Amino acid sequence: MASKSFKYVILGGGVAAGYAAREFSKQGVKPGELAIISKEAVAPYERPALSKAYLFPEGTARLPGFHVCVGSGGERLIPEWYSEMGISLILSTEIVKADLSAKTLVSAAGETFQYEILIIATGSTVLKLSDFGVQGADAKSIFYLREIDDADKLVEVIKAKKGGKAVIVGGGYIGLELSAALRVNNIDVTMVYPEPWCMPRLFTAGIAAFYEGYYAKKGVNIIKGTVAVGFDTHENGEVKAVKLKDGRVLDADFVVVGVGGRPQISLFKGQVEEEKGGIKTDGFFKTNLPDVYAVGDVATFPLKLYNEIRRVEHVDHARKSAEQAVKAIFASAQGKAIDEYDYLPYFYSRAFDLSWQFYGDNVGDTVLFGDSSPDSSTHKFGSYWINNGKVVGAFLESGTPEENKAIAKVARVQPAADNLEALAKEGLTFASKI
Ligand code: FDA
Ligand code: NAD
Repeated sequence: MASKSFKYVILGGGVAAGYAAREFSKQGVKPGELAIISKEAVAPYERPALSKAYLFPEGTARLPGFHVCVGSGGERLIPEWYSEMGISLILSTEIVKADLSAKTLVSAAGETFQYEILIIATGSTVLKLSDFGVQGADAKSIFYLREIDDADKLVEVIKAKKGGKAVIVGGGYIGLELSAALRVNNIDVTMVYPEPWCMPRLFTAGIAAFYEGYYAKKGVNIIKGTVAVGFDTHENGEVKAVKLKDGRVLDADFVVVGVGGRPQISLFKGQVEEEKGGIKTDGFFKTNLPDVYAVGDVATFPLKLYNEIRRVEHVDHARKSAEQAVKAIFASAQGKAIDEYDYLPYFYSRAFDLSWQFYGDNVGDTVLFGDSSPDSSTHKFGSYWINNGKVVGAFLESGTPEENKAIAKVARVQPAADNLEALAKEGLTFASKI
């Protein structure tokens, strides 16, 4: 079988890979030196579009419209860009074996790739209900969403089951974005999740109450505090109903599951140091192995601001970590130093006509400000997190660009706040004064 050799290989062709490629080109990579190997059939794209405009009936997003780096206002890298740069885009190629000591990767088709420097950018994979042994979880018409092929299957089922019923399992990012996208397509939607409120890993009860109320107004049925324990199927194997632990049975024409992700690092087990479920890196995304870097969802890195090491599964970090790793690779080759990664966590979501941003850390006491009633005409409300007398995190729904900048600054500067009642009253004014 064929063997190819490159100075640099990026394994994975998602968000981090695309932003890394742009940085390689800025740093002056030479034609023939860099390859991106991806099991997806398309050039790197902005993955967040898949749970949003890709599914909309109007204003639909399709490639090449959302290739990286349009998501952050940058140049759109269409497949021709890679060929012009002399970057090998090796698509539809799954790596099934990695030998980090021999610096060799082997594809499912048996092709071998050698590298001098490797950047691991394999992202996450979805957790499946079959992983938890849920009865009937392999029925047809149960869908997950991670890659563009998954999104295409959803587009097909939305068309095929027009006006039908869907059950969404999970109350996190996928659950909230997909239930909105399906409602916009006139599907009858019921969400099911085990926790007392949606998005518990970020939302407070007060924040969640707004979204749950708003979703209910949009016609989404919400069932909390229980899980799917099995599925009934038609004779053709398609799902007919979802059985819940509390005994309820929900009719369904199809099901979408979003019960979390897991970093794809199994290829490297035992070969590289791991921590907190990811590949451990330093502030330059270098692993414990010389010449192996890890970026995006798979990296567990030092979060300087909090003096902690963490993994982050969001697009802004995927972009920035990729750029940092490439800058570090070139600096080290030139014997220069760059600053350590100093990341301010930033997460966001959009659904219906809503749009929120969060910056910082969601630890400590919280205050809610603004009008958080689901009936509010502005939808403008937010929350601060206060830890050890300092504001460490800020959330804002329906903020203007200036207001979002102001809450980002608060999370970075961490101003003191002793009186929580006064902070709640001041609301956004507090942020705009920092
Ligand atoms: P990413 O998953 O983008 O790419 C990994 C790539 O590696 C894929 O192309 C995969 O096929 C490939 N790969 C893996 N194993 C391989 C192998 N063995 N051989 C070859 N190729 C392999 N975040 C946010 O902040 N705001 C948002 O709105 C959203 N929205 C959103 C929607 C949806 C549907 C998803 C799934 C995720 C989001 N996210 C998000 C999260 C964000 O997209 C995510 O954190 C980044 O895509 C991570 O970038 P990576 O490059 O690390 O992985
Ligand atoms: P998530 O971690 O956001 O949510 C998982 C949810 O699954 C939990 O909140 C819980 O409600 C639910 N759950 C867990 N076990 C369950 C069970 N047995 N039955 C029913 N529900 C159960 O994960 P996700 O929503 O699947 O998202 C996957 C990945 O995609 C994450 O990395 C996420 O960051 C990313 N993503 C991010 C965005 C964004 O940032 N806007 C959007 C979409 C996806």
